[in-house]
Amino acid sequence: MYKIRTLDNISQDGLKLLNSNYNITESDNDADGILLRSFKMHDMDLSPSVKIIARAGAGVNNIPIERYSEEGVVVCNTPGANANAVKELVVLGLLLSSRRVVEGIKWVRTVKDDKDVSKLVEKEKSKFAGQELTGKKLGVIGLGAIGVMVSNIAISLGMEVYGYDPFISIESAWGLSCDVQRVLNLDQIMTECDYITLHVPLIEQTKNLMNKEKFALSKNGIRLLNFARGGLVNHNDLKEAIQNGQVHSYVTDFPDCDLLNMDNVINIPHLGASTYESEENCAKMAVSQTRDYLENGNIINS
Ligand code: MLT
Repeated sequence: MYKIRTLDNISQDGLKLLNSNYNITESDNDADGILLRSFKMHDMDLSPSVKIIARAGAGVNNIPIERYSEEGVVVCNTPGANANAVKELVVLGLLLSSRRVVEGIKWVRTVKDDKDVSKLVEKEKSKFAGQELTGKKLGVIGLGAIGVMVSNIAISLGMEVYGYDPFISIESAWGLSCDVQRVLNLDQIMTECDYITLHVPLIEQTKNLMNKEKFALSKNGIRLLNFARGGLVNHNDLKEAIQNGQVHSYVTDFPDCDLLNMDNVINIPHLGASTYESEENCAKMAVSQTRDYLENGNIINS
């Protein structure tokens, strides 16, 4: 009999794959495997019984991998399993940053008691004119599964898409049937593009990737999207760049106290992977990896 500890919400559809040889616990320390989503494990000591930690999600910055690997624990994630859900929200992010829908919706609420709302709407709507994505240049930083899918959709929306990836070779991105029109280095992306979207993991080399120096290179009024990790953007530098007009708006899936009250920031409460389908896919993949390791000693990871 194996014991599996869940540290936060794991989709029941995934947990169903644990058969009668498994006990699921939320609190017992002496588990064979740990399943988690966003729980931050940073200071957590593991019982020697733990053999595998599986994250139902792509990013692993909530797990001290080095420390646990040294203790002989296998750590795996589920890359790609939620890529579709994130891609769809990024597309919404692009639209939210180009059209003034959020401001418009807020305004409509303020006039909800007016007797002739429709007349007022027709009178005031020009305040909320936005811009079209067609013909604009999009820089995609990170050409993994999500970056590639976002690129292809942006191309079909009529955008000119430029790609850059600090880790993946252009060939492997193209191998994923990416239609990115041109590949630039990061500085060129900053100078050329009107919209920039981040799709790299948060690691030492990518921390504060968007900073003062990079904003200084950009055109005036770029629109920045971050559905990858908050730490990729230096928030102090971003605030300054918003105040001096270099950044027109920031759409982020990682709200931070520093930016909550800024008009030009659209804060989404980390919903990128929050669809029923993606939660199920990630949980099923994490559970299969856990079972395969505990029962057969196989390690499956990207
Ligand atoms: C990811 O790293 O894949 C997402 O942040 C997952 C999540 O929202 O749980």
